[in-house]
Amino acid sequence: MRLAGSIHCSFAAVLLCIAACDAGVSHAAKPASAPTPAPVPKNARYKDASQPVEARVEDLLARMTLAEKIGQMTQAERAEARPGDVTALMLGSVLSGGGSGPSPNKPESWASMIDAYQDAATATRLGIPVIYGIDAVHGHQSVIGATVFPQMIGLAAAGDADLMKRIGEVTAREMAATGIYWNFSPMVAVTQDIRWGRAAESLGEDAATVGTLATAYVGGLMAPIAPDSAQILPTAKHFIGDGGTAWGSSRQSIMGVQYRLDQGDAQGDSEALLARYLPPYKALIDAGTGSVMASFSSWNGDKLHGNNALLTGVLKERLGFKGFVISDWDGIQQLPGSFEQQVTTAINAGVDMAMVPKDYRAFVRVLTDAVNKGTVPQARIDDAVRRILRAKFAMGLFEHPRALRSLQAEFGGAAHRAVAREAVAKSATLLKNAGALPLARGKSIFVAGEFADNLGFQSGGWTLQWQGVSGNGEIVGTTLLEGIKQVGGATTAVSFKEDGKLDGRADVGIVFVGEPPYAEGVGDRDIDELALDRREVSAIDAMRSRVDKLVLVVVAGRPQLLDKVIDKVDAVVMAWLPGSEGAGLADVLFGDKPFTGRLPVGWPASAAGYQRADAPLDMRCASLVWALGYGMDVSGKALGPGRCTR
Ligand code: GLC
Repeated sequence: MRLAGSIHCSFAAVLLCIAACDAGVSHAAKPASAPTPAPVPKNARYKDASQPVEARVEDLLARMTLAEKIGQMTQAERAEARPGDVTALMLGSVLSGGGSGPSPNKPESWASMIDAYQDAATATRLGIPVIYGIDAVHGHQSVIGATVFPQMIGLAAAGDADLMKRIGEVTAREMAATGIYWNFSPMVAVTQDIRWGRAAESLGEDAATVGTLATAYVGGLMAPIAPDSAQILPTAKHFIGDGGTAWGSSRQSIMGVQYRLDQGDAQGDSEALLARYLPPYKALIDAGTGSVMASFSSWNGDKLHGNNALLTGVLKERLGFKGFVISDWDGIQQLPGSFEQQVTTAINAGVDMAMVPKDYRAFVRVLTDAVNKGTVPQARIDDAVRRILRAKFAMGLFEHPRALRSLQAEFGGAAHRAVAREAVAKSATLLKNAGALPLARGKSIFVAGEFADNLGFQSGGWTLQWQGVSGNGEIVGTTLLEGIKQVGGATTAVSFKEDGKLDGRADVGIVFVGEPPYAEGVGDRDIDELALDRREVSAIDAMRSRVDKLVLVVVAGRPQLLDKVIDKVDAVVMAWLPGSEGAGLADVLFGDKPFTGRLPVGWPASAAGYQRADAPLDMRCASLVWALGYGMDVSGKALGPGRCTR
């Protein structure tokens, strides 16, 4: 609610007063007990960048009031909090949720928006910069014109650590161009069940691969961007066990979709679960990752957001994590009890910063009350703030809080897109080839399927919008069909009809099938829902009768069931979710680049026999048509032993 405010106050002052009053943390009339904080000397030690980080942390912490400390622990969403709120409540962080950004959606608008928050933050007594967070999970894909990389599952198929590092570097530069230095990425779930709507965001089912590739990516994200730049802060998420929940254990329902796995419950012997899910976190912490996001999911029935044994006992004490834990989107409010009880439980369990997009004022109020009552110890507040300040000092945010507009010239440029095109080619995974590939230039090619010419479909979720988009209106890039035309060149006759009912005949047909975009549990599917739909089977049948050789290309963030069509096609290529640079697929289809992709997850043979990755190995192997690690080159040579020696 916004009051009219008195006509003689400036608008900003009115906002300050309203925001403060809303928070119940009045700045206008201080309670008698709260002493007026001392003015900050210009030569305060924390302001001296030559001082050691820990010395700066302790100097600043000692100067902070409780309100300033709790403000640092509070993250609001940009659509809910104005710069004036940042000043009034001394907020430590602001985020963009999926699809939440300025209009027009272009780099300069983002830079201006975030610099306004920084101006508001540095106008506070202590001048602590805000840290602005976003999901730049396959490139800085919230911004129109950004380079959109393949989703992580495809990068896992590529299995190239040097490429991961370069993708991290490009992502960091496009983020810095907009003034954003905190990436809620990488997700280091070890995916046990491809029915999970977040399998596409993961680096697959093998913990060692997840750790190796995520570490390389974080190395790129944290690489120096420019002499006058802050460093990106990566986030290891979602701690812990988000990729191993039991089918049907989720209580969440969003957009009318009952989640079945996402935000569910990981069940089993705790040490055995830790042995599977903890290694990627250790790897990322050892690589210097400064933030960890708590998982919505539970661990043997205990919500991670309130789990002291895991957030503090395992993450902070056993692994020695010195960064800070951020809660997930209103994840605190999924805990039992009143909001004050939820906040108390989460902060005492080890959450250091609360992602409370709308409820940030209430959060400040109830946490202040909890500290004043002693239900949240002052020492816990100081520990949380110490961790947050440590991250902000270490990444150079105090010295370089603003957007690097000089990088906007390269934003989404050819050099960045070349890295993405390389990633598309390296992620493509060849699973069957009976003389259909490589394509020959100068021949005739028929193309079909709704995934052939749709940038939104080939990018997947977390692209411009939380749930992704359809069509070619906003994403800047090259569709898979356009790529085939470009790489095939003038001598290759390419014809496209979505249903495959083209006139005449062609040497080769390519049918694109897959899954339209989704994100999180909205993408939870039962195994039989991963079969091709009627229209896709119809397009394959239509094409079969019109071409000599038929290639099936799957555009999805996880395996699809092909048992009904595998004998109808001469080749199968898994393109994953390639993102904006669709020509990268044509590079391997025409043999300009070799197929190198290998499966980061096993591929189920059918719905009937489906087994999760954590099933007993013999049962798991018997359920797969292609095992973890399988892939072939165009000559038919296997690129590595599938994990199941059958
Ligand atoms: C979402 C996701 C998390 C993301 C956060 C902010 O619900 O679970 O991965 O980083 O909210 O968008």
